Amino acid sequence: MFITFEGIDLSGKSTQATLLYKHLKKKGKKVILVREPGGTAISEKIRKILLDKKNKNMYPITEFFLFSASRYQLTKEVIKPYLKKGYIVICDRYYDSSTAYQGYGGFVDLKHINSINRIASENLEPHITFLVDIPIEESVRRRKIANKVNDRFESKKLSYYKKIISGYRKLSKLNKHRIFTINGCNPINEIHKHILKILEKYNI
Ligand code: ADP
Ligand code: TYD
Repeated sequence: MFITFEGIDLSGKSTQATLLYKHLKKKGKKVILVREPGGTAISEKIRKILLDKKNKNMYPITEFFLFSASRYQLTKEVIKPYLKKGYIVICDRYYDSSTAYQGYGGFVDLKHINSINRIASENLEPHITFLVDIPIEESVRRRKIANKVNDRFESKKLSYYKKIISGYRKLSKLNKHRIFTINGCNPINEIHKHILKILEKYNI
């Protein structure tokens, strides 16, 4: 079972992915948690290039190929081998992030995104995707609280994030068979319980 978490920055994806990982581990399940971009030695190096604020003049297509390269490496080196061994693989972001950020964000033609996504994932589709949905105001609020130094992505404009939020919502309508939209404004533990409730139907 391949489970992914999606949503805009600070939506609470990592919090929920970690809670789910710990829950399943405690239940004695074979489970791993990885994140994108990253998750392998090579992919973590690519992540550094992608997030580096000094790389101001990176073209959108360069960026998209780097995300895809990192994804392919992670898919071949970790995700597919672990799925084969019967593990539940939880991934914090996968190709829906490219569709939402590079595609609906307005930088790369969705036709190209879809075909490269298929190559980078070797046609692996997540079985279940939790879209942790928050409005832009909540992301801004959390950013102020976290008070952290922005990386290259977090420095982008609010109008860009609005496109991503609506892109994710479109994606969930187009992929009703696997994408579950979760209200990320609810308390952390309530969201976790909601996720477990959905997973019960899959006998997880
Ligand atoms: P992401 O992985 O989507 O960027 P994180 O899980 O790292 O998000 O959470 C971002 C910030 O929001 C953290 O400070 C976290 O404690 C806080 N947070 C996460 N979930 C919630 C929630 N449901 N309500 C309020 N704050 C939350
Ligand atoms: P990260 O620090 O992992 O953010 P988060 O905690 O929100 O997941 O940074 C990843 C950034 O890269 C984030 O802003 C989303 C962006 N991104 C894309 O634009 N396209 C992609 O395909 C992926 C995987 C991430």
